[in-house]
Amino acid sequence: MPDRYLEFASSGLGGWVVEALGLPKPAPLLRRGEGEAPPSLPLLLGPPTADGRMGPVLMRLAAGSGVEIHHAWTPDVRYGGLVFDASACLDVAATQGLYRFFHQAIRSVAEHGRIVVVGIPPETAKTAEGEAIQRGLEGFVRSLAKEARRSIAVQLLYVTPGREDQAQSTLAFLLSPRSAYVSGQVIRVGAAAVAADPAVGHAGRQVLVTGAARGIGEAIVRLFVAEGAKVTALDVPSAQDDLRALAQELGVDPLALDITAPEAAGVLLKTARARGGFDVVVHNAGITRDRTLGRMDEREWNSVMAVNLGAPLALTRVLLEAGAVRRNGRIVAVSSLSGVAGNMGQTNYALSKAGWIGAVGRMARDGLDHGITVNAVAPGFIETRMTAAIPFAIREAGRRMNSMGQGGSPVDVAETIAWLAHPASGGVNGQVVRVCGQSLLGA
Ligand SMILES: NC(=O)c1ccc[n+]([C@@H]2O[C@H](COP(=O)([O-])OP(=O)(O)OC[C@H]3O[C@@H](n4cnc5c(N)ncnc54)[C@H](O)[C@@H]3O)[C@@H](O)[C@H]2O)c1
Repeated sequence: MPDRYLEFASSGLGGWVVEALGLPKPAPLLRRGEGEAPPSLPLLLGPPTADGRMGPVLMRLAAGSGVEIHHAWTPDVRYGGLVFDASACLDVAATQGLYRFFHQAIRSVAEHGRIVVVGIPPETAKTAEGEAIQRGLEGFVRSLAKEARRSIAVQLLYVTPGREDQAQSTLAFLLSPRSAYVSGQVIRVGAAAVAADPAVGHAGRQVLVTGAARGIGEAIVRLFVAEGAKVTALDVPSAQDDLRALAQELGVDPLALDITAPEAAGVLLKTARARGGFDVVVHNAGITRDRTLGRMDEREWNSVMAVNLGAPLALTRVLLEAGAVRRNGRIVAVSSLSGVAGNMGQTNYALSKAGWIGAVGRMARDGLDHGITVNAVAPGFIETRMTAAIPFAIREAGRRMNSMGQGGSPVDVAETIAWLAHPASGGVNGQVVRVCGQSLLGA
């Protein structure tokens, strides 16, 4: 559904009216393939004159994309991104370096620019003050993300010392237009069990997407196909026509299957064997049955629990036990901001979606064999048929209540999943990444 306010505010006259009335003026996001991308502008590294821990990784990224790296702020230069290594920020006095760098450079960041602050996992700091400052970076980054505006995204990356190389796929994502609707996020990068070349992507990988017939699932399918993956697109039998149309257009393998059906595990295992196993499993299928708890009937409760949590957890177990997820495989679940923040009328949905936050944390802590990782994305307000059906006033509030001042697109969720599922993202495990334009709801 078109965002008329965004279109109006982005037009010449509309922009003037909006400013004159003191109304919010969201900048349209710049996504992959949409015009000139910010990485073509120079990247400024801080603190000044030092490459920082990420220097070599950033040099490799820059060499691949032709981006210049600057080590000192220069007035009049517009920067596509800022990367500040705050790993040595371990006492209060050292925060002055952070202040000075961003105080000077923040206004030199171009529209759609990217900012990444790099730290160490706070609990690895040797002193309480060090841990305090490293943890404090979260507050700094989330606040800067709210101040940045103009579609600028700001993230914090906690990289385990010695694992800097594992951050390449993550930095490539965060510094690119692919992360247009991801902001104010805290992401941890640690050891990867399987070393993978960041230059080798999804081509030829076997990918399973559930709930693939429409909306976010369809966008995930399209993106993986565009990246050269072989996709199995699963959806309920009643969505068979849509699946067939997708198969015809994109050459994906359709699989008409209700994931809650008694035969689901058997059918999925047979399919996995026919494909030689899956490299990527995306649990996207989901339903809502919204009603306040006192009015909710048991069927509404049970169906949401089964589709959103019970069935995908059980199928994950079956696939893992049968060795049907390949070495260096990726499992990504689609959680929701409702799971993070809770939502009126969604006790069932929020439990099921927050359940995935627990599940990915647990599976990552326990450690899956063969370098398999498990992560979740938590979308906020995404423009789909589901959100188009929300009454106007609530829809407008949902769209605007985030730092980007607009709803996301299904492709924003798909891009985030593709990064988490990348063969070289093995150092990112057990994380929940919000795709919400830094929604005001939740943490
Ligand atoms: N749209 C948003 O703003 C938003 C926000 C947060 C989270 N999400 C989550 O993203 C996912 C996709 O949402 P969407 O907006 O594209 O919804 P959607 O309703 O358009 O698509 C969901 C798909 O899942 C399929 N599905 C439902 N039950 C199934 C079952 N038992 N077996 C197999 N497939 C089944 C449906 O047929 C449908 O094609 C869901 O998990 C949803 O909870 C969406």
